[in-house]
Amino acid sequence: MSIKHFLQFKDLSKEELEHVFARSKWIKDKFKRYEPYHPLFDRTLVMIFEKASTRTRLSFEAGMQQLGGAAIYLNTRDSQLGRGEPVEDAAQVISRMSDMVMIRTFEQEIIERFAANSRVPVINGLTNEYHPCQILADIFTFIEHRGPIQGKTVAWIGDSNNVCNTWLQAAEVLDFNVHVSTPPGYEVEQERAGLYGHEHYEEFADPMEAARDADLVTTDVWTSMGFEAENEERMRDFADWQVDGDMMRVAAKDALFMHCLPAHRGEEVAAEVIDGPHSVVWDEAENRLHTQKALMEYLLLGRVQS
Ligand code: CP
Ligand code: NVA
Repeated sequence: MSIKHFLQFKDLSKEELEHVFARSKWIKDKFKRYEPYHPLFDRTLVMIFEKASTRTRLSFEAGMQQLGGAAIYLNTRDSQLGRGEPVEDAAQVISRMSDMVMIRTFEQEIIERFAANSRVPVINGLTNEYHPCQILADIFTFIEHRGPIQGKTVAWIGDSNNVCNTWLQAAEVLDFNVHVSTPPGYEVEQERAGLYGHEHYEEFADPMEAARDADLVTTDVWTSMGFEAENEERMRDFADWQVDGDMMRVAAKDALFMHCLPAHRGEEVAAEVIDGPHSVVWDEAENRLHTQKALMEYLLLGRVQS
């Protein structure tokens, strides 16, 4: 049987995603009823972090425990990974001792090299290019609040970073539209985003125009992990790309606001928005747990039927 990885959003087809969303709901409902569900009994997830994390670590570690398995945390500071052991060698060894690996790292190429040498499924827990687990949770959250995302409009305001690229891929797979507004010099790079074309997104110089009539307005930090040296310059360049109350007022009346978190109030988002009535950021964060449990179930056990 071939191994299934989740290295970027388009690694799962529309049908597979629909299955994972249905399983997310089933797993979440069962969890809320305090009913144990241990399909991954005796399985081990290794989590490798080369960057900081709260939500990703917690949701994978708690999620694996709740499914009956165990999770082991490794970071580059105190493992051989930070001392130059080749990624290919690490993949050989780690995948002989575990059932699944989650990696948060820098270039996408690193996770691809790991996966090419792994005997077990590999999950992208964030790279410079993509954050597929985040968008899995975000779309599940949208569906919970508003129904199918197909045909809807998502406004992305700010940096064309890993989260933005993943929204753009998701739009192609699930057939919705993204209106993107980035400051000059930070535009979407189609190849880096791994897109087939330009059909599912439109670029706007004015962030207010991108947000107009959108069903979901979303943003992320102006400076992602790994780009800290550019922070000062970015603070100046992104100053007009804050999601504030005026921007939410031009969006659709019942528009949702999402942010992958951690957020910087007063920078990419105003407090009145993230703490206001459109915001679903806490549901979004919680759904990392449920959607990743469904993802891990799918990668290890295939299409489990309720
Ligand atoms: N959204 C997200 O991935 O959060 P962490 O960096 O805390 O994992
Ligand atoms: N774009 C952000 C997301 C953090 C979850 C980063 O890469 O730092």
